[in-house]
Amino acid sequence: MQETVDLSVDFAGLKLANPVFTASGTCGYADELSAFMDINRLGGFITKSITVMPRKGNATPRIVETDSGMLNAIGLANVGLDNFVKERLPVLEKFSAAVFVNVAGQTIADYVAVAERLSSEPAIAGFELNISCPNVAKGGISFGTEPENVTQITSAVKKAGGEKVLMVKLSPSVTDIAVTARAAVDAGADALSLVNTFTAMVIDIETRKPVLANRTGGLSGPAIKPIAVHLVNKVYNEVTRDSSVPILGLGGIRTASDAIEFILAGASAIATGTANFIEPDCAEKIVEGIKEYCTRNSVANIRDLTGSVG
Ligand SMILES: Cc1cc2nc3c(=O)[nH]c(=O)nc-3n(C[C@H](O)[C@H](O)[C@H](O)COP(=O)(O)O)c2cc1C
Repeated sequence: MQETVDLSVDFAGLKLANPVFTASGTCGYADELSAFMDINRLGGFITKSITVMPRKGNATPRIVETDSGMLNAIGLANVGLDNFVKERLPVLEKFSAAVFVNVAGQTIADYVAVAERLSSEPAIAGFELNISCPNVAKGGISFGTEPENVTQITSAVKKAGGEKVLMVKLSPSVTDIAVTARAAVDAGADALSLVNTFTAMVIDIETRKPVLANRTGGLSGPAIKPIAVHLVNKVYNEVTRDSSVPILGLGGIRTASDAIEFILAGASAIATGTANFIEPDCAEKIVEGIKEYCTRNSVANIRDLTGSVG
């Protein structure tokens, strides 16, 4: 039995209390989860995607449950940059967890504008670059599937973001995720997060129409977990293992054992997404569960587990 366990991680130069985050789009701007969980118990928090202008998002229905998961086609509904700075940022300032702002847009200039405006805000530890949203007609996933686009947008936002940590969120809807991961790292990404949702479709056989107004949506939840674990392991082995670039692993995580799988595969930190809707305090419970696993398995330091799958 391990007497004391060190859960702290160095995440691209940020000293985090533990490796557990909540994922973008599943916990609003933090206040929404505060009634259920103490966010200060987490290592990090990632906001809903922020765009320059407010967005209403796609027409409804825009979510549907599936076997072991859900599809969403929210379409980046968000309060917009000005409101975020005025109303939401002051709330985020009081948390000790590292705050990442997820940045989205339709053009590179949009992404740059958000990063530039927020680059001097002390409450923000870093940006998560959403180049993998499958639910918008312009921008979104198209930035994340072509390596040249990944290079361009990553280097532009890196410049605009000043000292802030830049984490690039990769799309799983590509032939070889190591190629886009490499493009992001070579262009200056300080960290990678993977995965975003998988483009998918549900059809109502009575109406013979897609259930979602957007026709397609992004699949998330336990259904995608083994694929996400594989992709994290692939990016770790082929791109980041010998670098200082950490991976934030996500996709179907609900329990500490799910989290440990991602860490063994190569993640330095993990995030809960869809699970927050079912069990809003699951991230806090995962912190305790990881500690218990380490104690039981004589792991003194969670950092030693990253990428240690045999
Ligand atoms: C309802 C919903 C909204 C989401 N919104 C965003 C978003 O605004 N930006 C983003 O980068 N990812 C967004 N995501 C993707 C999640 O952050 C996460 O990458 C994905 O759901 C896989 O993790 P999970 O299976 O644990 O949910 C959203 C996911 C869901 C379910």
